[in-house]
This record gives sequence, structure tokens and C-alpha cells, in this order.
Amino acid sequence: MSGHWNDAPRCDRTVAWTGLRGHYEAHGRDFDLREAFARDAARFEAFAVDAPAVFADLSKNRWDLATRRLLLELARECRLEARRDALFAGEPINVTEGRAVLHTALRAPRGAGPHSAEVHEVLDRLLTYVEQVRDTAASGIRHVVNIGIGGSDLGPQMAVPALDAFTHPQLRFHFVSNVDGHDIAPVLRQLKPSETLFIIASKTFTTQETMANAEVAKAWFLANGGTDTNKHFVATTTNVEAAARFGISTTFGFWDWVGGRYSMWSAIGLPIALAIGADNFRSLLAGAHAMDEHFRSAPLERNLPVQLGLLDLWYRNFHGFTSRGVAPYHQGLKRLPAYLQQLEMESNGKSVDLAGEPLPYATSPVVWGEPGTNGQHAFFQMLHQGTDVIPVEFIAVKHATHSHADLHTKLLANCLAQSQALMLGKSTEQAATERAPTASKTLDAQTIARHRTFPGNRPSTTLVLDRLDPHALGALVAMYEHRVFVSGALWGINSFDQWGVELGKALCNDLLPRLASRDVQGLDASTAGLLQRLVN
Ligand code: F6P
Repeated sequence: MSGHWNDAPRCDRTVAWTGLRGHYEAHGRDFDLREAFARDAARFEAFAVDAPAVFADLSKNRWDLATRRLLLELARECRLEARRDALFAGEPINVTEGRAVLHTALRAPRGAGPHSAEVHEVLDRLLTYVEQVRDTAASGIRHVVNIGIGGSDLGPQMAVPALDAFTHPQLRFHFVSNVDGHDIAPVLRQLKPSETLFIIASKTFTTQETMANAEVAKAWFLANGGTDTNKHFVATTTNVEAAARFGISTTFGFWDWVGGRYSMWSAIGLPIALAIGADNFRSLLAGAHAMDEHFRSAPLERNLPVQLGLLDLWYRNFHGFTSRGVAPYHQGLKRLPAYLQQLEMESNGKSVDLAGEPLPYATSPVVWGEPGTNGQHAFFQMLHQGTDVIPVEFIAVKHATHSHADLHTKLLANCLAQSQALMLGKSTEQAATERAPTASKTLDAQTIARHRTFPGNRPSTTLVLDRLDPHALGALVAMYEHRVFVSGALWGINSFDQWGVELGKALCNDLLPRLASRDVQGLDASTAGLLQRLVN
């Protein structure tokens, strides 16, 4: 289907949406995964997608080929491909801010993609600087402290531990984001000014938390005998003038067409580059670019971000599932759920369409999670036996970067077992035939069996990486970015603004002086009461 992306019908006004409604009533609501596998021996192959560095098993999801066909029709009616092409071409698809959305340009090879000259000029300069700092004998740097929040924190904070095996052995990384002094205080205790590099990371260089922590860092540095601020402070920002006013002369810029939560590929990725070095950082970018090319050119039925985005819509708008669990079976990915929370919920937590009309359907699910196997001993109980159905996304990594092979085998077995258990469940009859040594002897066997029943039919996706190296991490994160783009585009929302964070910031600015003056005039009774309790 051709046509301009902006003229596309809203998803709920398409023929396919009506088709999906009927299909859900007839086949979706009562869809049973176990029956689907019994019916179709080729189901695994039919729902397997091989994307660059990421293999996905989508077969344990509550859909069939007919569902997928209808979802693909929906994508075509909503002109998803035209929207995607507009993204890559740098059209101002962030309509409420009149901006292009070009994080893909940050990882395009030299000479390819928009803004190539300026992107590669900063990248080359950044990576030259990185190698100077990584020469720790000459630079004397041992600690890198990234001060930033949201998109200026979560990407590096996620990627540095993920790539631990590739990290400079003499550099330690710290991330300070919260305006709560309990964040920076224990970090400063570990540092010496002469060994520390502070990165002040802020797209706008106006964010309250970051500016306040930067002031604390500078005061600490000077008070503890630090002498060369030019060497020990660096800024990554689009607002180079504000960084200069703050007193930082070493700056690496980026551009307003890079959204904060899409910025780890820009100068905001400096901590990542310092950790893994120039060649590995280029490999991270290349992995992301490989996923960009896949998203751009793979047919929709074999296009991983498209398949995942369609599934998100199917679950949110037809099944009514309200959240999605992310369970990376790799400890290095422990901050991936937090990263995805910003990526997905700040992008797609919207309730009006591009024209500002209120939406009659749901958008972003809650995204949450913890690494496996830890989550198994915490919230998996609810996933298996709770009243809500929560699709889970497992991430398994075939090869470990440590030498404890036995641990890795156990980890992978756990990962497989969880998605299997969610799907298969256990009937009351089956539970009744089993011994339960820890069960009460005073309750009758049937009651115990009911407590030990698992409904099953709980959906999951498993993503498999060969190894968690820079290239694969780049591909994985880019996959998530494009998946969020797909669901946002289908929902007809602007995934690239974040007006929802403004109100709290403005009210905070009003309340801040009141904490000193204790003036509660004009405040609602609850806020006034709480303020008095906190200051009196
Ligand atoms: O909280 C809103 C937000 O604007 C995010 O979108 C952004 O990533 C974060 O604040 C930090 O902003 P900055 O990089 O400008 O300090």
C-alpha cells in the first residue's frame, strides 16, 4: 500500500482492525499454545525469525498464521513501511517538536546516511580522546564518573556492565543520576581528584538533577586538591555553550535530531567507549547498523522489530495484557529492563494521536523485569500462578565470556525450563498424581493438588544471542528501538516527545523555594500537609 505516512488511517479505523476483532473473538481469546503445537509440527520454524545477531522464537505466543496475516494487513493499511522510510530519510516525524529522528544516522558507515560528515567528525574526535584516556599510564585516570539522568545515563549504565568482558581492566565506572545525595556521596568517597574523570552528560545541559550533581562534583574536586578541571571534566551535550559557561572546555556535541533515550550511539556513549575502546565501540555501532538494515529491508513477515511490534499491539489491544516482563538470562544485562522502561514507556506512554485526538485504545504496556535466575525466586510465582497473564521475554546467550561452563549450562536450562513451564502448566489431575513432600498432612489431597495446579498457556518470546559482544548488544538495542517505533507508528502516536515529564518539573520549581520559606499558600491540603511535615 503506497501513500504518505501522514495520511495513513489510524489503526482502529482500518479494515484489518475489524478483522482482528472478529478473529480475536473466534480464535484469539481461547487460543491454546499446547493445542497449537500439537496441531502444527512446523510451528517453531513458522515463528522463528533470524535477524542480525538475534534469533527469535516467537512460537510460544498466542497467535497463529491467520493472526499474523491480519496484523501484517494492519501494518500495511497503517503505511508502516512509509513511516519507517520517513524515519530513515530524516523527515520531521517528531511532529510536536518539528524534529527529525535520526539516531540511525549515528551508526551508519562513513559516507552513508544523513549528516554523515558531522557524525563522523565527532565520532573520530571522541574515539581519539577515548584512546588517550584509556592509556591509563599516561592519563592517570582510574575512575570514570558519568553524571547524567534518563537517556544520558541509562544507555551507558546498561551497556558498560553488559560488556564487562571487553572492559578496560584498570578503569572503574560509576553512574550518578539521582538528585538524591545518597547517589553521589558514596561514589565520591571512593575517588581521588587526580585519578577521576567526570563526564557531565546532558542533551540540554539544563536538567536539574545533572546540573546539581555536576556542581557537587566540581566543588568536591576543588575542595580535595583537584587542579586541572580541563583534564578532569568533560561534557557530552547539544548545548556546548552552556557547558562552556559551566567551565568545561572539553566537549563532544550531538544534535537535536537525537532523542535522549536514543542517544547511547552519540557522544552520550562516551562511558561505553571508554570502557570497551574505539574498535569495540565501532563494532557496537556496526551491530546496530546491521539491525537498521534488517528493519529497513527485510520483508515484514521476517522482520524482527516488525513482528515484535505487531505482537505488542495484539497483546495490548486485543488480549488486554497490561505489562510485559523482560528476563535476560545474563547478569550483564541487569540494567536492560530499566533501559527498556525509558525507551518504551517514555516513547509510547501517550494517550492522544498525532492530531491530538484522545485515543480509544491502550498504548504502552508496563515494561519491567530482572535477570534470570534471580527473578525466578521473586516474582515468577505470579507469572506462573497469578491471575494476570503477563507475556515474558527471555534473553538467552549461547556462549558465556567466563570459564565456569557448569554454571552456564545450569543458567540455560533454567531459561528453557521457565518458558516451557509457563506454556505447559500442570493440570490438577497431574498434580494429584505427584508426591508433594512439603504439603500439609492435614489437608486433603485434592485441595493440595488445586494449589499445585499451573494454568499454563502463558506466552513468551525467547531471544537468543550467540554471545554478548559489542556487535550483538548493538543489534539487540537497535531491535528494541525499532520495535518501539513499530508499535508507536501503528498506534498513531508520537513516540519521540515526552511532554508528560514537564508538569512535575514545573511544580518542583514552584515547591523548591517553599521548602525554605515554608509558605504553603495556594497548595492543595495534602501537598501543604506533607510539606509542613517535611520541613517543620
Ligand atoms: O525526563 C525527561 C528527559 O528529558 C529524558 O527524555 C531525557 O533523557 C532526560 O530527561 C535527561 O535530559 P538531558 O539529557 O537533557 O539532561
